[in-house]
Amino acid sequence: MVLLLSSILVFSQNEITTITISNDKNAPIISKHIYGHFAEHLGRCIYEGLYVGEDNKIIPNTEGVRNDIIDALKELGIPNLRWPGGCFADTYHWKDGIGPKEDRPTIVNRWWGGTTEDNSFGTHNFLNLCETLGAEPYLSGNVGSGTVQELSDWVQYTNHGQISPMADWRRENGREEPWNVKYWGIGNEAWGCGGNMTAEYYADVYRKYATFMSSWSNEAKIVRIASGASADDYHWTEVLMKKVPYHLMEAVALHYYAVIDWTVKGPSKDFDEEIYFKSMKAATKMEELVTKHVAIMDKYDPEEKVALFVDEWGGWYDTEPEIANGVLFQQNTMRDAMIAATTLNTFNNHARRVKMANVAQVVNVLQAVILTDKEKMILTPTYHVMKMYKVHQDAQLIPTLFENVDYTLGDEKIPALSVSTSKDKNGFIHISLANIDSKKENIVEINIETLDIKKITGTFLSSKKLQDHNTFENPTKVEPTDFKDFKVKKGILTVKIPAFSVIVLEGK
Ligand code: AHR
Repeated sequence: MVLLLSSILVFSQNEITTITISNDKNAPIISKHIYGHFAEHLGRCIYEGLYVGEDNKIIPNTEGVRNDIIDALKELGIPNLRWPGGCFADTYHWKDGIGPKEDRPTIVNRWWGGTTEDNSFGTHNFLNLCETLGAEPYLSGNVGSGTVQELSDWVQYTNHGQISPMADWRRENGREEPWNVKYWGIGNEAWGCGGNMTAEYYADVYRKYATFMSSWSNEAKIVRIASGASADDYHWTEVLMKKVPYHLMEAVALHYYAVIDWTVKGPSKDFDEEIYFKSMKAATKMEELVTKHVAIMDKYDPEEKVALFVDEWGGWYDTEPEIANGVLFQQNTMRDAMIAATTLNTFNNHARRVKMANVAQVVNVLQAVILTDKEKMILTPTYHVMKMYKVHQDAQLIPTLFENVDYTLGDEKIPALSVSTSKDKNGFIHISLANIDSKKENIVEINIETLDIKKITGTFLSSKKLQDHNTFENPTKVEPTDFKDFKVKKGILTVKIPAFSVIVLEGK
């Protein structure tokens, strides 16, 4: 199999693959926002996860948000956080989460377990949290059950610096300066929980909402994000690109989950190799999906005015049964590390058009980077991959081209290797490599002559078993270690990539 990504060449022969590095000076910058996160009112993500309440005396917190999570997300270099949904967003009325907490009405979380929430975590909590994290907030607006006025009021509340009804109300609620929220989703999954709309109908609805979010020429430079396609619904992207004028739309979303079968998603930790293979087959499909959605966008928008935001991605399995209110709670194993590594390589390599991505979700839900149990907190293998890969944030892509090797199970084959390479502002080169094969080591040879590298160090993530994961009793079972299994001779870097492992090399 030959995978053409640009100009790194990887030739495959048995298990040996040779890589040549490109010298393309015009390659795109990998937006740091590809390393974004998503927090929905769902299960134990917000309540019991991020937010334990301002009055909590047992778990140290800042304005009710756990300090250990704040520290862990800062360490990850979290660039943005999407909130409040997901499907929840199209039921959420932001004004119910403003003002004295005791006066706030309740909301029934109809999509996720029917729990009654007290609206104690609202706009101020979320935007202050983003400030504390140094992350850009991404607010997902209610189109399905809201109004144009409600959404445009939210923009005024968060962003208006002068006298205005909403800005004055914000000041009454204790916040003088606007937060200047840049990223605004106009509905979520409009084809499903966001209103079961057709693409054609949503495009018109979108145009109306987008009109009232900003000024004539969008001087505030907010980024309006159209609710995008599910997986391979290329018609959806085509209709949006055709029907929405580009001065009204800065980004189109795409949602895709690595799921093996929506009716039987399989266990999150006690899976066998067949299920692992199916998950990897689903995960590696992201490359095809992004390629095809981007091709449609290129056709209508050759000047690249509209970005692609993959604002929900991750592995989705059956909910772990033993957790109370654990809607969509799943364990996170080496399988998730492999999904994260290959998916992030795909996004890096598509940095020309993919400007944001959000793993679903940040705490206790789906492919979470953090899991909590009362005062305990653990970091998952996915967290470790994202931390290893953060070196690519805002670095310049060094495009790659390679002939892949197969990971074979029975009669089926999927590409085993993925790679992405970048050069950061300080001149450091980073090469991230993932081998998803469950049994076979793969060896790559990379021609690094053009990179002027004098010293290389490496970080490595793997474990004994695919099913290995961190627990509250053993929180460091899966953790990155130093990687040294490489050598350089006459400009050729040779790396042995063990089965189901992730490596990030740094060269200077
Ligand atoms: O992330 C969980 C759910 O998946 C989101 O609410 C929805 O947008 C998607 O279907």
